[in-house]
Amino acid sequence: MKNKIAALLIAIIVFTGFKATAQQIDNKYNIIPYPTSLTSGQGNFVITPATTITYAGLFINEANRLNELFINSFGKALPLNTASKEHGIQLKYDAGISADEGYRLVITTHQITISARTPAGMFMAVQTIRQLLPVNVEYPNVKIVKSLALPALTINDEPAYEWRGMHLDVSRHFFSIAYLKKFINVMALYKMNKLHLHLTDDQGWRIEIKKYPKLTEEGAWRTFNNQDSACIKKAVDNPDFKIDEEHIVHKNDKTLYGGFYTQAEMKALVAYAAERHIDIIPEIDMPGHMMAAINAYPFLTCNGENKWGTLFTKPICPCNESTFEFAENVFTEIMDIFPSKYIHIGGDEVDRSDWAKSDACKQLMQREGIKDLPALQSYFINRMEKFFNSKGRKLIGWDEIIEGGISPTAIVMYWRGWVPDAPVKAVKNGNKVIMTPGAPLYFDYQPDQNSIYNIYHFNPVPAGLTSTEAKLIIGAQANIWTENIPSENRADYMFMPRMTGLAELLWTNNVNDYNSYTTRLTDQFKRLDVLKVHYRLPDLPGMITQNVFTDQDTLSIVKPMPGMQIRYTSDGTLPNKNSQELNGKLVINKSEHIRLAAFTSIGGKGDVYDLNYQQQSLSPPVEVSNTQPGLICGYYKAFFKETKFISQANADSTFISDVIAVPQSVKAPSFAVTYSGYIDVPSDGVYSFYLTCDDGGVLKIADRETVNNDGLHSAIEKNGQVALKKGLQKFKLDFIEGGGGYTLKLKYSKDGSAPADLPTSWFRN
Ligand code: ACM
Repeated sequence: MKNKIAALLIAIIVFTGFKATAQQIDNKYNIIPYPTSLTSGQGNFVITPATTITYAGLFINEANRLNELFINSFGKALPLNTASKEHGIQLKYDAGISADEGYRLVITTHQITISARTPAGMFMAVQTIRQLLPVNVEYPNVKIVKSLALPALTINDEPAYEWRGMHLDVSRHFFSIAYLKKFINVMALYKMNKLHLHLTDDQGWRIEIKKYPKLTEEGAWRTFNNQDSACIKKAVDNPDFKIDEEHIVHKNDKTLYGGFYTQAEMKALVAYAAERHIDIIPEIDMPGHMMAAINAYPFLTCNGENKWGTLFTKPICPCNESTFEFAENVFTEIMDIFPSKYIHIGGDEVDRSDWAKSDACKQLMQREGIKDLPALQSYFINRMEKFFNSKGRKLIGWDEIIEGGISPTAIVMYWRGWVPDAPVKAVKNGNKVIMTPGAPLYFDYQPDQNSIYNIYHFNPVPAGLTSTEAKLIIGAQANIWTENIPSENRADYMFMPRMTGLAELLWTNNVNDYNSYTTRLTDQFKRLDVLKVHYRLPDLPGMITQNVFTDQDTLSIVKPMPGMQIRYTSDGTLPNKNSQELNGKLVINKSEHIRLAAFTSIGGKGDVYDLNYQQQSLSPPVEVSNTQPGLICGYYKAFFKETKFISQANADSTFISDVIAVPQSVKAPSFAVTYSGYIDVPSDGVYSFYLTCDDGGVLKIADRETVNNDGLHSAIEKNGQVALKKGLQKFKLDFIEGGGGYTLKLKYSKDGSAPADLPTSWFRN
């Protein structure tokens, strides 16, 4: 009996010891993603240039990757050896490690043993060691040292999800091979394993196809478009928006933007990524998003026209055999360049209207019993899938591919946040699904103070799946569409450090200690500096955009990163590295506009904060009696570009609500909701409100515009203040949803408290 209890206790200790929990995270080790299980030991293992690396034959690449770190640090490689040795660093084969990318790392004072069953697992262990070593291991000659110490510890580690992806659109703006290598190297550092390259779109064809040379001779080049113009405008204030000169050419009196990868260049990149256990998944987006190809080869359309439809460009024609011949020829060359098991065919945003007008399509639909245009798209995708499968590859498509019916063997990439049941439907159909919903995983959306938190707390498994079905959610991916990302620095800013939050979500899944993660992230910035990653600096805490004061206000900032300087102006100009430094408190006693930004010692600059200060008197309460609980809401089933247009429409329905959130019952892709009534303010003072919405929202309290977050945009938070006396105060919130995103949150704070939901008891009408 006693022994049984002891055995049970040991079992509990062993079991709970295996999963990292909030309490067990040891911030001595600033590893991201945090390992599944980490136990500290005593002392260090000291590596010198004489330390030997012993490896099992299948791990030669990983031994080399590990040795690169030492070459950078010592100026020379450690001796490599395949014979078993007692001391030094051992890379051992272990058939007992079940996860494909799993590993065990044991560091004692006299030896380092890394065990894995696969080279991928061994590589992941090398990345953990990389993060345990000082930052000078990242590049040659940053700092040559005589020895390196690694702390004694035991790590058992494996990923929660098999698909840990990043996407990059190289069509809208083009990125060099050198940049892609840097991108891959940073992905590898955080154990991300899939790079999805969006190689073709309306704005440019970026991969050499030998059979169709005009795809790149013509399709890779364009004159500046309206997205370029928008970037050029923004570049006046922010040099990261300057269009990369490297991709501008002057030809026949024309200035052209573009570029493409030769097959040889891309094969070398694929090999570089493979050494880092990252698969490159090529996407050739069709049948829509094909304008660049159609310009070069007009036979691809049903009617020879190549133009924009209502929302998207005209697609290629799925009703002509010549289209299939083209598509198969292109994908045959693509498969020769990219050995990946997965090939992405796109399939998103297709304007199918011309198909309905085509005689070829009418005949085909009749002959094949195809009932509608979505089914016609499915005919195209299913035929292409059979072709992919015949070559031993699996097809991935954006989630529109399920609309007209899809075979369960295709892999669905979910992106349309406004079609929440799409991933569930796909899984119920038997398809594997990769989650990339716009919120929070479109990394082309402007990051704000909540973006990493939202990524970190994203659940890749949608509601409505059984635990068995949930296994078909194979992971998630962040997408970077580059219409507004014309430079490498801007791309770095958009994906880092956001990607580290995704990496930890997908590898460690629910370490569930966000504070630990942010502490570890602060340490990672030093490594990213050495890697010359132009990451977005941490947000300055507690910044309010529209500030209100009654007598005077003070501005002081707790710096989120050591070594940061905060500089500001009060004359409307942009702050630069020579602007006045904000140290301590700035007293504000008149209405003014402060612009400030953080600067780092190595030339980094954070977002510019525009802080408006306005003097207000406390608004007196309104005198109303017999109020009822809740706010009066109006629902408008229409599309509005800005909230000001709502007043020109009639509400389709009204209801009472005591919460501020997108109503569950709302189905229209585009709509507006208005909330009006009173809030019962508990005490006199200046109140801060934080309005997050996708799309727009405007909050008025006491007839004073408090937060203006209007327009069509992704889920961003804006904030503002209002001075109120205790009692009932007029409340009005207008919200518009353009289609997709569906986010509405309102929080408040007072006297420096943490933002919190407004108590439901405050709402009256
Ligand atoms: C997409 O964002 N069109 C997949």
